[in-house]
Amino acid sequence: MNSILVTGGAGFIGSHTVVELYKAGYTPVIIDDFSNSHPKVLQGIESIIGEAPIFYQGDCSDVQFLISVLAKHPDICGCIHFAAFKAVGESVLNPLKYYQNNIGSLSVLLNALREYKITQLVFSSSCTVYGQPTSLPVDENASIEHANSPYGYTKQVCERMICDVHASVKGLSSAVLRYFNPIGAHASGLIGELPLGTPDNLVPFITQSAAGLRDGLTIFGNDYNTPDGTCIRDYIHVVDLAKAHVAALTWTNNNPNSCEAFNIGTGKGNSVKEVIDTFELVNDLKLKVAIGERRPGDVEQIYASGLKAKELLKWTPELSLADALIDAWRWQQNLSVEA
Ligand code: WQD
Repeated sequence: MNSILVTGGAGFIGSHTVVELYKAGYTPVIIDDFSNSHPKVLQGIESIIGEAPIFYQGDCSDVQFLISVLAKHPDICGCIHFAAFKAVGESVLNPLKYYQNNIGSLSVLLNALREYKITQLVFSSSCTVYGQPTSLPVDENASIEHANSPYGYTKQVCERMICDVHASVKGLSSAVLRYFNPIGAHASGLIGELPLGTPDNLVPFITQSAAGLRDGLTIFGNDYNTPDGTCIRDYIHVVDLAKAHVAALTWTNNNPNSCEAFNIGTGKGNSVKEVIDTFELVNDLKLKVAIGERRPGDVEQIYASGLKAKELLKWTPELSLADALIDAWRWQQNLSVEA
């Protein structure tokens, strides 16, 4: 009993978590519909772990598809649920797409877990549930603020669904992981962030600008109440984040019938300008940077208190902002070669 269902396992965080699951002795069973990922990620995973991962293409909100996978793998003892749309801006333009997919897929999954007596769940949530925290670093007791976007609201609803299922029926142990800002790539350069189309997030925009795929980078506002005027975030290396999922799985196994949320960040805030300056320094590059208007919906600053994850999950991040920006650039260079 060491197979783990990984929904969205071909995605950025999912693929890195699949690698860490293998290293920890688990057998990941990946399902993904490639709506926000690419089949070549599976080749990258295979190159790293030395074998083709177990994979089924399909939508985990499709009950028949999900049941067909679970029936083939009765040794699945847990699930890590990544499959969800996550573009804040897109969710404002197309909220029903987000409600249908993000909430619908979790509802189908929770029913299937109960039917197949799968008792461990790790859920991919987000620091966006906090909005702009009133005190920093933000801990898990901070109030859940009004969501700035339909995307953020789906994460709040999903967290509540998991809590309500936990309260209603014994058996499920859940760890809800509130990610801060995942960045970087596997050091092999074989897997990394694959934004489809124009990236929303800062670091892929930086690496694409450095690769000449974008005509420079715009800093969205430098008039915030921060030391250099640019927004502050908690940038966490995606490999550290992946390891946190394995630690959370272990915690659900050792703590049956539990339900806890954990902040997964470094505990350190860096400004947009600091990220840009660090990228230039560690990769010996110069970026073309302009200052633009603030981006609607951005919070001024947020970074995590990691005490609960350290104490209960026995997890702490090990990689630095510099490590992540070196790894992100290596991955972008490999992508450019393949293009
Ligand atoms: C970071 C900072 C921008 C691009 C994201 C996801 C959210 C959650 C956390 C998963 C902001 C600035 C960006 C650019 C810029 N992830 N920026 N120029 O908004 O903190 O949230 O990560 O759950 O879902 O949306 O990340 O990388 O978009 O922005 O100045 O070209 O970089 O204004 O201050 P964000 P981001």
